[in-house]
Amino acid sequence: MALQRMNRRRFFMGLAGLGITLPSFRKTGFPRSRQGSGINRPLVVTSNANRFVKEAVTSAAWEALLQGGSPLDAAIKATHVAEMDPRDPSVGYGGDPNEEGFLQLDAAVMNGPDYEAGAVAALENIKTPSSVARLVMERTDHLMLVGKGALKFARLHGFKEEDLLTDEARRHWLEWKESLSERDYYHPPRKRDDRDGGGTINVLVLDAAGDMAGVTSTVGHHFKLVGRVGDSPIIGAGLYVDNDVGAAGATGHGEESIKTCAGFLAVEKMREGMSPLEACRYVCRRVADRHRGKPMFNLKIVALNKRGAYGCCALRGRMDAATKKTVGSGFSVHDADGHRTETGEALLPPMTEEERNAIPWR
Ligand code: GLY
Repeated sequence: MALQRMNRRRFFMGLAGLGITLPSFRKTGFPRSRQGSGINRPLVVTSNANRFVKEAVTSAAWEALLQGGSPLDAAIKATHVAEMDPRDPSVGYGGDPNEEGFLQLDAAVMNGPDYEAGAVAALENIKTPSSVARLVMERTDHLMLVGKGALKFARLHGFKEEDLLTDEARRHWLEWKESLSERDYYHPPRKRDDRDGGGTINVLVLDAAGDMAGVTSTVGHHFKLVGRVGDSPIIGAGLYVDNDVGAAGATGHGEESIKTCAGFLAVEKMREGMSPLEACRYVCRRVADRHRGKPMFNLKIVALNKRGAYGCCALRGRMDAATKKTVGSGFSVHDADGHRTETGEALLPPMTEEERNAIPWR
């Protein structure tokens, strides 16, 4: 309680230091930054979570800040919403499994104020890998634990082992398995389940004092090979936070994000003076260039800077039915004006049906 009071005090002192007065508290509980100040703090930005939970995700972070939590507390609380919701096929409990039908989860946390980070990879049977990643950061001298070691560590800290495979995810996996080949003894069902996509979750949080933190959590690629680890738990790829500059996260084809050091590159470009949107665009352009302008996968970058500017750019967009123009995918924001979903930019049009058929299941 005393700590919460202290954090609240710090929040208000942060505002005062910026010359921000507290005119009117909106229903979001925090004051709006003064018009023209160019500062938009606090701020929560997430790569779009599943449609069922996206508002709950940003609101959980906001609520945690209101309660006096740190940016990392807020980012973890928000991530838990997606991790524990069985309707999100890409994150935590209820996510799609690997090729053998069980889940191996990846997560990372990075805390701006002390420049610390923690991660877990290929963690089985634990619903909230982000919390285990945080404990790796706080309670060990290591940065990443994987597989059996990560599970052992989680058990040591009292995490309960649970079966993460829901019936819906099992059916989705079975359909994939049944459809792999026509030269086997399986018959896929005539009517396929249509599991709504979600995507790895990045949560980036900037508090009123200008401190920031980020969390990334994922099941990785649907039906991936056992033991495959993507970019989400790799600091500098799926997530990077520099408290002096900004924070960035990547979702999509993790292998490409790792090769480009996507999160780190975005933050470094902001350090050089780019806006968050320009930095996201830059990373996408770099990846596209490395693939002769025709990447056969998608990657999406979200970023925010210390003043509370933010942006999002994807490599491949989607076709907007009304305007017939390529737009990026949605991402979620929560600031003093409340929660909203915004449309990001996209560098390239969506893949054609022919292109899609030429690549493995994604
Ligand atoms: N970006 C998530 C993954 O590739 O695992």
